[in-house]
Amino acid sequence: MNVLKKIVFSAIQPSGQLTIGNYVGVIRQWIKMQNSYTCFYCIADLHAITIRHVSSELRKNILDTVSLYLACGINPRKNIIFLQSHVHQHAQLNWFLNCYTYCGELSRMTQFKNKSKRSIKNINSGLLNYPVLMASDILLYDTNVVPIGHDQIQHLELTRNIARRFNSCYGNIFTIPDKYVFGRNCNILSLLDPDKKMSKSDSNRNNVIFLLESIDSISKKIALAVTDSNSPPSIHYDIINKKGISNLLNIFSGLTDRTISNLELEFSGKSYQDFKSDIIEVISDFIKNLQSSYFYYRKNEDYLKKILNDGAFKACIKADTMLKKVKSAIGLI
Ligand code: TRP
Repeated sequence: MNVLKKIVFSAIQPSGQLTIGNYVGVIRQWIKMQNSYTCFYCIADLHAITIRHVSSELRKNILDTVSLYLACGINPRKNIIFLQSHVHQHAQLNWFLNCYTYCGELSRMTQFKNKSKRSIKNINSGLLNYPVLMASDILLYDTNVVPIGHDQIQHLELTRNIARRFNSCYGNIFTIPDKYVFGRNCNILSLLDPDKKMSKSDSNRNNVIFLLESIDSISKKIALAVTDSNSPPSIHYDIINKKGISNLLNIFSGLTDRTISNLELEFSGKSYQDFKSDIIEVISDFIKNLQSSYFYYRKNEDYLKKILNDGAFKACIKADTMLKKVKSAIGLI
Protein backbone atom coordinates (compact mmCIF):
# COMPACT_ATOMS: atom_id res chain seq x y z
CA MET A 1 0.00 0.00 0.00
CA ASN A 2 1.39 3.38 -0.99
CA VAL A 3 1.65 5.44 2.19
CA LEU A 4 1.76 8.75 0.34
CA LYS A 5 -1.56 8.29 -1.37
CA LYS A 6 -4.73 9.41 0.37
CA ILE A 7 -7.24 6.72 1.22
CA VAL A 8 -10.65 6.40 -0.39
CA PHE A 9 -13.43 4.16 0.92
CA SER A 10 -16.75 3.61 -0.75
CA ALA A 11 -19.34 0.87 -1.06
CA ILE A 12 -22.55 -0.19 -2.77
CA GLN A 13 -25.13 -2.55 -1.31
CA PRO A 14 -25.77 -5.72 -3.32
CA SER A 15 -29.48 -5.29 -2.72
CA GLY A 16 -30.61 -5.51 -6.31
CA GLN A 17 -29.28 -4.96 -9.78
CA LEU A 18 -27.04 -1.95 -10.30
CA THR A 19 -28.44 0.87 -12.38
CA ILE A 20 -27.13 3.41 -14.80
CA GLY A 21 -27.51 5.85 -11.89
CA ASN A 22 -25.00 3.82 -9.85
CA TYR A 23 -22.63 3.91 -12.80
CA VAL A 24 -22.87 7.59 -13.73
CA GLY A 25 -23.30 8.74 -10.13
CA VAL A 26 -20.72 6.69 -8.30
CA ILE A 27 -18.77 3.95 -10.11
CA ARG A 28 -17.59 6.26 -12.90
CA GLN A 29 -16.04 8.50 -10.26
CA TRP A 30 -14.42 5.54 -8.51
CA ILE A 31 -12.66 4.69 -11.75
CA LYS A 32 -11.31 8.22 -12.01
CA MET A 33 -10.01 8.04 -8.43
CA GLN A 34 -8.23 4.71 -8.75
CA ASN A 35 -5.02 6.20 -10.09
CA SER A 36 -4.47 8.88 -7.51
CA TYR A 37 -5.72 7.27 -4.29
CA THR A 38 -5.46 3.98 -2.43
CA CYS A 39 -9.05 2.82 -2.86
CA PHE A 40 -11.10 0.38 -0.83
CA TYR A 41 -14.15 -0.51 -2.90
CA CYS A 42 -16.42 -2.62 -0.78
CA ILE A 43 -19.65 -4.53 -1.36
CA ALA A 44 -21.82 -3.76 1.64
CA ASP A 45 -23.53 -7.12 2.03
CA LEU A 46 -24.16 -6.63 5.77
CA HIS A 47 -26.10 -3.48 5.00
CA ALA A 48 -28.17 -5.36 2.43
CA ILE A 49 -29.77 -7.62 5.07
CA THR A 50 -31.43 -4.71 6.87
CA ILE A 51 -34.29 -5.22 4.41
CA ARG A 52 -35.91 -8.69 4.11
CA HIS A 53 -34.28 -10.56 1.26
CA VAL A 54 -34.10 -13.96 -0.37
CA SER A 55 -30.81 -15.74 0.41
CA SER A 56 -30.28 -17.16 -3.08
CA GLU A 57 -30.84 -13.70 -4.57
CA LEU A 58 -28.38 -12.07 -2.22
CA ARG A 59 -25.76 -14.67 -3.12
CA LYS A 60 -26.36 -13.99 -6.81
CA ASN A 61 -26.43 -10.21 -6.38
CA ILE A 62 -23.08 -10.26 -4.59
CA LEU A 63 -21.35 -12.06 -7.46
CA ASP A 64 -23.19 -9.92 -10.03
CA THR A 65 -21.96 -6.81 -8.25
CA VAL A 66 -18.32 -7.91 -8.16
CA SER A 67 -18.51 -8.77 -11.87
CA LEU A 68 -20.00 -5.37 -12.59
CA TYR A 69 -17.30 -3.58 -10.61
CA LEU A 70 -14.73 -5.35 -12.79
CA ALA A 71 -16.67 -4.84 -16.02
CA CYS A 72 -17.00 -1.11 -15.31
CA GLY A 73 -13.21 -0.88 -15.11
CA ILE A 74 -12.37 -1.08 -11.43
CA ASN A 75 -8.99 -2.70 -11.57
CA PRO A 76 -8.36 -5.35 -8.87
CA ARG A 77 -4.60 -4.85 -9.15
CA LYS A 78 -4.93 -1.17 -8.26
CA ASN A 79 -7.80 -1.29 -5.75
CA ILE A 80 -8.88 -3.37 -2.82
CA ILE A 81 -12.20 -4.93 -3.79
CA PHE A 82 -13.83 -6.89 -0.98
CA LEU A 83 -16.96 -8.01 0.80
CA GLN A 84 -17.87 -6.31 4.04
CA SER A 85 -18.85 -9.64 5.68
CA HIS A 86 -15.41 -11.11 4.93
CA VAL A 87 -13.74 -8.58 7.20
CA HIS A 88 -15.22 -9.27 10.62
CA GLN A 89 -13.69 -6.07 12.06
CA HIS A 90 -16.58 -4.10 10.47
CA ALA A 91 -19.15 -5.78 12.69
CA GLN A 92 -16.87 -5.53 15.72
CA LEU A 93 -16.18 -1.84 15.34
CA ASN A 94 -19.89 -1.41 14.77
CA TRP A 95 -20.53 -2.56 18.34
CA PHE A 96 -17.97 -0.18 19.80
CA LEU A 97 -19.29 2.77 17.82
CA ASN A 98 -22.88 1.99 18.82
CA CYS A 99 -21.81 2.94 22.32
CA TYR A 100 -20.71 6.37 21.07
CA THR A 101 -23.83 7.10 19.01
CA TYR A 102 -27.08 8.45 20.41
CA CYS A 103 -30.44 6.89 19.62
CA GLY A 104 -31.75 10.38 18.87
CA GLU A 105 -29.12 10.90 16.18
CA LEU A 106 -30.06 7.65 14.50
CA SER A 107 -33.80 8.13 14.62
CA ARG A 108 -33.41 11.56 13.02
CA MET A 109 -31.71 10.17 9.88
CA THR A 110 -33.78 10.90 6.79
CA GLN A 111 -33.05 7.52 5.22
CA PHE A 112 -34.13 5.68 8.38
CA LYS A 113 -37.40 7.62 8.43
CA ASN A 114 -38.07 6.89 4.75
CA LYS A 115 -37.16 3.23 4.96
CA SER A 116 -39.27 2.73 8.10
CA LYS A 117 -42.23 4.21 6.31
CA ARG A 118 -41.70 1.80 3.43
CA SER A 119 -41.17 -1.35 5.51
CA ILE A 120 -43.53 -0.75 8.36
CA LYS A 121 -43.57 -4.47 9.31
CA ASN A 122 -39.81 -4.71 9.61
CA ILE A 123 -38.35 -1.69 11.35
CA ASN A 124 -35.48 -3.73 12.76
CA SER A 125 -32.66 -2.27 14.80
CA GLY A 126 -30.22 -3.02 11.96
CA LEU A 127 -32.09 -0.42 9.94
CA LEU A 128 -31.65 2.07 12.75
CA ASN A 129 -27.98 1.18 13.22
CA TYR A 130 -27.25 1.21 9.50
CA PRO A 131 -25.29 4.50 9.62
CA VAL A 132 -23.14 3.23 12.51
CA LEU A 133 -22.06 0.25 10.42
CA MET A 134 -21.33 2.71 7.64
CA ALA A 135 -19.21 4.76 10.04
CA SER A 136 -17.36 1.57 10.97
CA ASP A 137 -16.68 0.81 7.29
CA ILE A 138 -15.19 4.23 6.79
CA LEU A 139 -13.28 4.70 10.04
CA LEU A 140 -11.56 1.29 9.99
CA TYR A 141 -9.31 2.32 7.12
CA ASP A 142 -8.06 5.80 8.10
CA THR A 143 -10.15 7.00 5.20
CA ASN A 144 -9.49 10.54 3.98
CA VAL A 145 -12.15 10.77 1.29
CA VAL A 146 -15.54 9.11 0.82
CA PRO A 147 -17.11 9.41 -2.62
CA ILE A 148 -20.86 9.23 -2.10
CA GLY A 149 -24.17 10.13 -3.66
CA HIS A 150 -26.26 13.01 -2.31
CA ASP A 151 -28.50 10.69 -0.29
CA GLN A 152 -25.58 9.54 1.85
CA ILE A 153 -24.26 12.95 2.91
CA GLN A 154 -26.15 12.88 6.19
CA HIS A 155 -24.63 9.51 7.06
CA LEU A 156 -21.16 10.86 6.41
CA GLU A 157 -21.81 13.87 8.64
CA LEU A 158 -22.83 11.46 11.38
CA THR A 159 -19.65 9.42 10.79
CA ARG A 160 -17.60 12.57 11.31
CA ASN A 161 -19.46 13.37 14.53
CA ILE A 162 -18.98 9.85 15.90
CA ALA A 163 -15.27 9.98 15.04
CA ARG A 164 -14.82 13.39 16.70
CA ARG A 165 -16.73 12.24 19.78
CA PHE A 166 -14.57 9.13 20.09
CA ASN A 167 -11.39 11.12 19.53
CA SER A 168 -12.37 13.65 22.15
CA CYS A 169 -12.52 10.79 24.68
CA TYR A 170 -9.38 8.92 23.66
CA GLY A 171 -7.08 11.09 21.54
CA ASN A 172 -6.57 11.01 17.81
CA ILE A 173 -7.63 7.49 16.98
CA PHE A 174 -9.74 8.07 13.89
CA THR A 175 -8.98 10.11 10.81
CA ILE A 176 -11.89 12.49 10.13
CA PRO A 177 -13.09 11.66 6.61
CA ASP A 178 -14.12 14.25 4.05
CA LYS A 179 -16.98 13.69 1.67
CA TYR A 180 -16.49 13.82 -2.04
CA VAL A 181 -19.85 14.57 -3.61
CA PHE A 182 -19.92 14.49 -7.36
CA GLY A 183 -21.05 17.47 -9.35
CA ARG A 184 -24.67 18.36 -9.95
CA ASN A 185 -24.62 16.25 -13.09
CA CYS A 186 -24.08 12.98 -11.30
CA ASN A 187 -27.35 12.67 -9.46
CA ILE A 188 -29.39 10.51 -11.81
CA LEU A 189 -33.15 10.71 -11.31
CA SER A 190 -36.08 8.42 -11.93
CA LEU A 191 -37.21 8.34 -15.58
CA LEU A 192 -40.93 8.80 -14.97
CA ASP A 193 -40.71 10.81 -11.79
CA PRO A 194 -37.60 13.00 -11.88
CA ASP A 195 -38.47 14.45 -8.49
CA LYS A 196 -36.85 11.40 -6.93
CA LYS A 197 -33.57 9.56 -7.33
CA MET A 198 -33.21 6.59 -9.69
CA SER A 199 -33.16 3.70 -7.25
CA LYS A 200 -32.50 0.01 -7.82
CA SER A 201 -35.27 -0.85 -5.38
CA ASP A 202 -37.95 1.24 -7.12
CA SER A 203 -41.17 -0.76 -7.42
CA ASN A 204 -41.86 0.72 -10.87
CA ARG A 205 -39.13 -0.73 -13.06
CA ASN A 206 -39.89 1.79 -15.81
CA ASN A 207 -38.20 4.40 -13.61
CA VAL A 208 -34.88 2.62 -13.74
CA ILE A 209 -32.30 1.53 -16.30
CA PHE A 210 -30.47 -1.55 -15.07
CA LEU A 211 -26.94 -2.26 -16.24
CA LEU A 212 -27.88 -5.85 -17.07
CA GLU A 213 -31.06 -5.05 -18.94
CA SER A 214 -31.71 -5.80 -22.63
CA ILE A 215 -31.24 -2.99 -25.13
CA ASP A 216 -34.81 -3.50 -26.27
CA SER A 217 -36.23 -2.90 -22.86
CA ILE A 218 -33.97 0.12 -22.24
CA SER A 219 -35.10 1.70 -25.53
CA LYS A 220 -38.73 1.35 -24.48
CA LYS A 221 -38.03 2.97 -21.12
CA ILE A 222 -36.22 5.92 -22.69
CA ALA A 223 -39.11 6.35 -25.12
CA LEU A 224 -41.46 6.57 -22.13
CA ALA A 225 -39.19 8.83 -20.03
CA VAL A 226 -40.74 12.19 -19.19
CA THR A 227 -39.22 15.22 -20.85
CA ASP A 228 -41.23 18.18 -19.65
CA SER A 229 -44.82 19.06 -20.13
CA ASN A 230 -45.30 22.74 -19.52
CA SER A 231 -42.35 24.50 -21.13
CA PRO A 232 -41.74 24.84 -24.88
CA PRO A 233 -39.80 21.88 -26.25
CA SER A 234 -36.12 22.68 -26.24
CA ILE A 235 -33.12 20.67 -25.16
CA HIS A 236 -31.37 22.62 -22.51
CA TYR A 237 -30.32 22.08 -18.93
CA ASP A 238 -32.75 23.43 -16.34
CA ILE A 239 -33.02 21.17 -13.31
CA ILE A 240 -35.93 23.17 -11.85
CA ASN A 241 -38.28 23.47 -14.82
CA LYS A 242 -37.00 20.74 -17.12
CA LYS A 243 -36.03 17.96 -14.77
CA GLY A 244 -36.70 15.12 -17.21
CA ILE A 245 -34.62 16.56 -20.06
CA SER A 246 -31.87 17.64 -17.66
CA ASN A 247 -31.73 14.11 -16.25
CA LEU A 248 -31.37 12.63 -19.74
CA LEU A 249 -28.66 15.19 -20.51
CA ASN A 250 -26.82 14.08 -17.37
CA ILE A 251 -26.96 10.45 -18.47
CA PHE A 252 -25.78 11.39 -21.98
CA SER A 253 -22.94 13.50 -20.60
CA GLY A 254 -21.97 10.86 -18.02
CA LEU A 255 -21.65 8.11 -20.63
CA THR A 256 -19.79 10.16 -23.23
CA ASP A 257 -17.78 12.55 -21.04
CA ARG A 258 -19.14 15.38 -23.18
CA THR A 259 -20.06 18.59 -21.40
CA ILE A 260 -23.70 19.61 -21.02
CA SER A 261 -23.13 22.83 -22.97
CA ASN A 262 -21.59 20.87 -25.81
CA LEU A 263 -24.69 18.64 -25.91
CA GLU A 264 -27.03 21.65 -25.72
CA LEU A 265 -25.27 23.09 -28.72
CA GLU A 266 -25.52 19.87 -30.72
CA PHE A 267 -29.22 19.44 -29.97
CA SER A 268 -30.33 23.04 -30.28
CA GLY A 269 -33.38 23.17 -32.54
CA LYS A 270 -33.70 19.38 -32.58
CA SER A 271 -36.77 17.52 -31.43
CA TYR A 272 -37.13 15.43 -28.29
CA GLN A 273 -37.50 12.45 -30.57
CA ASP A 274 -34.11 13.10 -32.22
CA PHE A 275 -32.56 13.53 -28.82
CA LYS A 276 -34.10 10.36 -27.49
CA SER A 277 -33.00 8.31 -30.47
CA ASP A 278 -29.42 9.56 -30.02
CA ILE A 279 -29.38 8.87 -26.31
CA ILE A 280 -30.73 5.37 -26.93
CA GLU A 281 -27.78 4.78 -29.23
CA VAL A 282 -25.29 6.09 -26.67
CA ILE A 283 -26.75 3.95 -23.89
CA SER A 284 -26.91 0.88 -26.15
CA ASP A 285 -23.23 1.14 -27.10
CA PHE A 286 -22.25 1.54 -23.50
CA ILE A 287 -24.45 -1.31 -22.26
CA LYS A 288 -23.35 -3.73 -25.01
CA ASN A 289 -19.67 -3.27 -24.14
CA LEU A 290 -20.32 -3.42 -20.45
CA GLN A 291 -22.43 -6.56 -20.66
CA SER A 292 -19.97 -8.47 -22.80
CA SER A 293 -17.25 -7.74 -20.28
CA TYR A 294 -19.63 -8.56 -17.42
CA PHE A 295 -20.48 -12.01 -18.82
CA TYR A 296 -16.80 -12.75 -19.27
CA TYR A 297 -16.18 -12.19 -15.54
CA ARG A 298 -19.46 -13.59 -14.27
CA LYS A 299 -18.81 -17.01 -15.83
CA ASN A 300 -15.66 -17.39 -13.83
CA GLU A 301 -16.77 -17.65 -10.21
CA ASP A 302 -13.40 -19.00 -9.09
CA TYR A 303 -11.73 -15.85 -10.34
CA LEU A 304 -14.34 -13.64 -8.64
CA LYS A 305 -13.84 -15.46 -5.36
CA LYS A 306 -10.08 -15.10 -5.67
CA ILE A 307 -10.45 -11.33 -6.14
CA LEU A 308 -12.64 -11.19 -3.03
CA ASN A 309 -10.24 -13.34 -0.99
CA ASP A 310 -7.26 -11.22 -1.98
CA GLY A 311 -9.21 -8.06 -1.22
CA ALA A 312 -10.34 -9.31 2.19
CA PHE A 313 -6.80 -10.33 3.05
CA LYS A 314 -5.47 -6.83 2.35
CA ALA A 315 -8.43 -5.06 3.99
CA CYS A 316 -8.10 -7.24 7.12
CA ILE A 317 -4.53 -6.16 7.75
CA LYS A 318 -5.49 -2.49 7.88
CA ALA A 319 -8.79 -3.09 9.69
CA ASP A 320 -7.15 -5.20 12.37
CA THR A 321 -4.57 -2.53 13.15
CA MET A 322 -7.36 0.00 13.69
CA LEU A 323 -9.51 -2.35 15.73
CA LYS A 324 -6.59 -3.10 18.09
CA LYS A 325 -6.02 0.63 18.53
CA VAL A 326 -9.69 1.16 19.36
CA LYS A 327 -9.85 -1.74 21.83
CA SER A 328 -6.78 -0.57 23.64
CA ALA A 329 -8.04 3.04 23.75
CA ILE A 330 -11.30 1.86 25.30
CA GLY A 331 -9.45 -0.19 27.90
CA LEU A 332 -10.18 -3.73 26.70
CA ILE A 333 -7.42 -6.23 27.34
N1 TRP B 1 -25.10 3.14 2.38
C1 TRP B 1 -24.43 3.27 1.13
C2 TRP B 1 -25.47 3.32 -0.01
O1 TRP B 1 -26.50 2.72 0.10
C3 TRP B 1 -23.48 2.10 0.90
C4 TRP B 1 -22.36 2.13 1.89
C5 TRP B 1 -22.17 1.25 2.92
C6 TRP B 1 -21.32 3.08 1.93
N2 TRP B 1 -21.05 1.59 3.58
C7 TRP B 1 -20.49 2.70 3.03
C8 TRP B 1 -20.98 4.20 1.13
C9 TRP B 1 -19.36 3.46 3.36
C10 TRP B 1 -19.85 4.94 1.48
C11 TRP B 1 -19.05 4.57 2.57
O2 TRP B 1 -25.21 3.95 -0.99
